[in-house]
Amino acid sequence: MLYSPEANDRTTSRNGGRTLSRQDQTFTIQVDGQPIPARPGQTIAAALIASGRRVFRHTPNHAPRGIFCGMGVCFDCLVTVDGVAGQRACVTLARPGMRVQLLADAEADDGQD
Ligand code: FES
Repeated sequence: MLYSPEANDRTTSRNGGRTLSRQDQTFTIQVDGQPIPARPGQTIAAALIASGRRVFRHTPNHAPRGIFCGMGVCFDCLVTVDGVAGQRACVTLARPGMRVQLLADAEADDGQD
């Protein structure tokens, strides 16, 4: 038996006769008021990195922070999501229409520098 990624992709759907795989189904999220593309199953951090953003916030000492551990441990990737501050971008899935704010200087104080 041959492996077929499309056969195993449960999110495959039809759109006007064209088969869409999960990777084809993009949507947008708003980042500081700017739309950026995201895909189902992609974290906010992955969408930010794919859009060229590396710095998500600054510490009170103005040190830039972005992805460090990438697995929800270090809290370096904190952003505000739909008005809720302190969300870890690396473990929060992007959703259509989501509003993300990157934190300006001194807004995020997690006690780590
Ligand atoms: S990068 Fe470490 S918690 Fe997100």
